[in-house]
Amino acid sequence: MSTKPLLSMLGIYKRFPGVIALDSVSLEVGRGEVVALCGENGAGKSTLMKILGGVYQPDEGSIQIEGRPVSIEDVTDAMGLGVAFIHQELNVLENLDVASNVFLGREPRTALGLVDNAKIHANTLPLLRRLGLEVSSRTRLDRLSLAQQQMVEIAKALSLNSRLIIMDEPTSSLTLQETDRLLSLVVELRNQGVSVVYISHRLGEVDRIADRVVVLRDGKNAGALERSAISHDRIVGLMVGREIKSFYQESHIPKVPGYFKVRNARSSRYPAATVSFDAARGEILGFAGLVGAGRSEIAKAIVGLDEQGGAEVSIGEERVAIHSARDAIASRIYLVPEDRRSEGLVAPMSVRENITLPSLGRFSSCFLIRRDRERRVAREQIESLNIKTPGTEARVVNLSGGNQQKVVLAKWLSLDPRVMILDEPTRGIDVGAKAEIYRLMRVLADGGGVILMISSDMEEVLHVSDRIAVMHEGRISGLLERPDCTEENIMNLAVGKPISAAKPAC
Ligand SMILES: Nc1ncnc2c1ncn2[C@@H]1O[C@H](COP(=O)(O)OP(=O)(O)OP(=O)(O)O)[C@@H](O)[C@H]1O
Ligand SMILES: [Mg+2]
Repeated sequence: MSTKPLLSMLGIYKRFPGVIALDSVSLEVGRGEVVALCGENGAGKSTLMKILGGVYQPDEGSIQIEGRPVSIEDVTDAMGLGVAFIHQELNVLENLDVASNVFLGREPRTALGLVDNAKIHANTLPLLRRLGLEVSSRTRLDRLSLAQQQMVEIAKALSLNSRLIIMDEPTSSLTLQETDRLLSLVVELRNQGVSVVYISHRLGEVDRIADRVVVLRDGKNAGALERSAISHDRIVGLMVGREIKSFYQESHIPKVPGYFKVRNARSSRYPAATVSFDAARGEILGFAGLVGAGRSEIAKAIVGLDEQGGAEVSIGEERVAIHSARDAIASRIYLVPEDRRSEGLVAPMSVRENITLPSLGRFSSCFLIRRDRERRVAREQIESLNIKTPGTEARVVNLSGGNQQKVVLAKWLSLDPRVMILDEPTRGIDVGAKAEIYRLMRVLADGGGVILMISSDMEEVLHVSDRIAVMHEGRISGLLERPDCTEENIMNLAVGKPISAAKPAC
């Protein structure tokens, strides 16, 4: 066996119009090593991995596998070299079954040239066992959860005898238990000699599984940490080049209870369940629960985005009738949706247009002045959230994943909400911008707004919320006051176990 590292990428350079995405970046990965690739949004992580996966070609630089120079022209080349890429947006065909997805495009054939279905299923079963995935190889993908679909992608990677698996933010849509399972799997794969490059903004995960952390900053290597040197603060230090003080913001203003009242909110997903709660003026009310508990659905019902659902809403003494999203916006009740890429962004438009879209009325006095003001608002938001873009006119579709998220947040934060519902506000967002978003949330609340924050990030929900409503199967199973906000209480309520600390929601 050669002593050369499994992978060396040397002096990789990649330029896009207006941006140097990678400026002489190098990366080495050993056999059976888990390397976490960290960096702020737009640092170049996905671009580097897309080059390794054959999606992009580098402008300069070389790639060696076990010391041999290779050229990776396309995805098939990467597969042939034993490199598998689990993208954040999964590449599965939902109307095919598990086995057909695993062997897609390289189905074994019978002597007559027909697809050998028996063999496909026989070969898939041991892979599913190895991954601890308890589904039949004949289940269609649209019957599986996102985590299970992701496991099918991993099964495919294993069936290709991949030596290196790239995972780009694999846990951002998984539940706590699914995340735990995936992390154990990464450790098992490493023990079996498979190498993994793991990209995540959740530094707790990185700390748990990484043998080494490689940090990129502004498209350059910023440093690396060996296992014994890995710590949250050191990673952040390399990522942002400064310390982040006051990550979570405290509030000292008095709250006005019973200000925002929601009664009998119903969603089409759980038509038999209703949700009623009060939120105080000045409060950040967290919504915790397992994925599928109905939190996003209730949020949509409140702002008029669920035609079969709805809610009775009042703010202060005023009864607010909401029949459509337009009514909610007119009442300054806003929802920043969870699936921002499909629901929140207009991909072909510029960063400026996306930020100022919902507030065009504010800029419409005169065409020229409008453009000017729009640009100014866009520039302010770009600066405050540290959005990495060549300028206000760049097309939003070309920004990195996390920077697209920031644009959607910026669009709503630049308004003057009375009630702001944020669904997974920091998913895919780097630590520096997280701290800034928490600060802005606190400013909005302290200024007399109400914030409802749906979050599956336990640390976030515990630290940012003033109170936490926990949902289970479409209903609020209990409300926790600050002193009772613990991980254990949340987990119990999330699985529907009653606990004495829980209060009624209104
Ligand atoms: N196809 C493209 N066209 C133009 N610019 C691009 C393209 N792909 C990436 N970029 C730019 O390259 C830079 C690096 O982007 P990349 O997606 O690699 O960042 P990242 O580190 O993965 O960030 P995130 O944490 O937000 O996912 C960004 O400035 C991005 O806007
Ligand atoms: Mg990325």
